Amino acid sequence: MNILDIISKKRDKKELTKEEIEYFVKEYTKGTITDYQASALIMAIYINGMNERETTDLSIAMAYSGDVLDLSKLGENIVDKHSTGGVGDKVSIILLPIIASLGIPVAKMSGRGLGFTGGTVDKLESIPGYRTNIPINDFIENVKKIGISMIGQTLNLAPADKKIYSLRDTIACVDSIPLIASSIMSKKIAGGANKIVLDVTVGKGAFMKTQEEAQKLAELMTKIGNLAGIEVVCIFTPMNEPLGMAVGNSLEVKEAINFLKGFMPKDLKDVVFELGANIIKLADKGQDLEKNKDMIIENIINGKAYDKLLQMVQNQGGDISYINDTSKFENAQFIIPVKSKTNGIIKDLDAEEVGKLACILGAGRIRKEDEIDKNAGIILNKKTGDYVKENEVLAYLHTNKEDIIEYAKSKVLEIWKI
Ligand code: URA
Repeated sequence: MNILDIISKKRDKKELTKEEIEYFVKEYTKGTITDYQASALIMAIYINGMNERETTDLSIAMAYSGDVLDLSKLGENIVDKHSTGGVGDKVSIILLPIIASLGIPVAKMSGRGLGFTGGTVDKLESIPGYRTNIPINDFIENVKKIGISMIGQTLNLAPADKKIYSLRDTIACVDSIPLIASSIMSKKIAGGANKIVLDVTVGKGAFMKTQEEAQKLAELMTKIGNLAGIEVVCIFTPMNEPLGMAVGNSLEVKEAINFLKGFMPKDLKDVVFELGANIIKLADKGQDLEKNKDMIIENIINGKAYDKLLQMVQNQGGDISYINDTSKFENAQFIIPVKSKTNGIIKDLDAEEVGKLACILGAGRIRKEDEIDKNAGIILNKKTGDYVKENEVLAYLHTNKEDIIEYAKSKVLEIWKI
């Protein structure tokens, strides 16, 4: 088999066989297929698509490119959750400790930032000492010992997805249904949970801009999961403006910590509670979604969810003094308030534009080897529907790049439509 034949086949809109897909995944993971050849194939898939059979084969091949965990010894219901991506989406860091505090084991493998969206791994790594790259046995032991572990893909779990994911990020090939479905499902199959809640985001700040596209993606991921013996529930959540008030890694971690201390922005709370209620149902801990939401609020009020976050951070080497006192997190060198030039109501705040601006400030990657700036990002002071007076702050820009400040300020005045 030859990679050139595979690239030209997909370039010419033909269907790839299972063997060809497996060959590509195996050889690219090993490094015998180069990044430029993989880029060509991924671009051909992006443009010409893949049918359901090809997408399933790609998901399975990527899942089996490394270890596939069997977590069945840990309990009957091991739950995992994944989002199809968004801006300001810190839901996992809030929700999964809540779920674990309710006695439902959580084994979560997350990704890094992709395109204009953020990634949970980058966010967790802004907690000093927190290790997202731990041996598989420790990952399993953590779930056994404290009921939760949140890690990155740095273990030998779906290594093919790890490579393809970061490549897609830098060749503008992110928003493709077969590529997103196979990326997410390969990680979920390798991660070993038998019940998965997928947060399928829809809107300006999501990869799926319309409900129809989101529906297609959800159906495809459900079918792939079911074929692998996983029960999948998809919840559609709106992603038109950023979720919560913070965008950027350490800024979002602080917002997540504060949420568990009781400071809950309404839009973020709605998503956390909706997904959480469904996870509890899927884990057979409560069939009534409203009662499940009561269980969630109870564990926030009594501090059990917060304690679980502390336990998880400590268990993975993180410094919990930062959780107890979020003012310890380092700030970016420049924190710039951007003020409104007029009175009025914010009528639109495009999450994708905000996500791209956060990347310009340093929170995202342009090349796959780029380091992100953990402290860069944006604190939103006004969101859609809010009234703003002339000279009131619309947003605070956090950055270490002095040379882009004037440009970034002008972008805020463009993006916050009054
Ligand atoms: N999340 C993933 O893990 N992969 C994608 O392609 C998009 C969102």
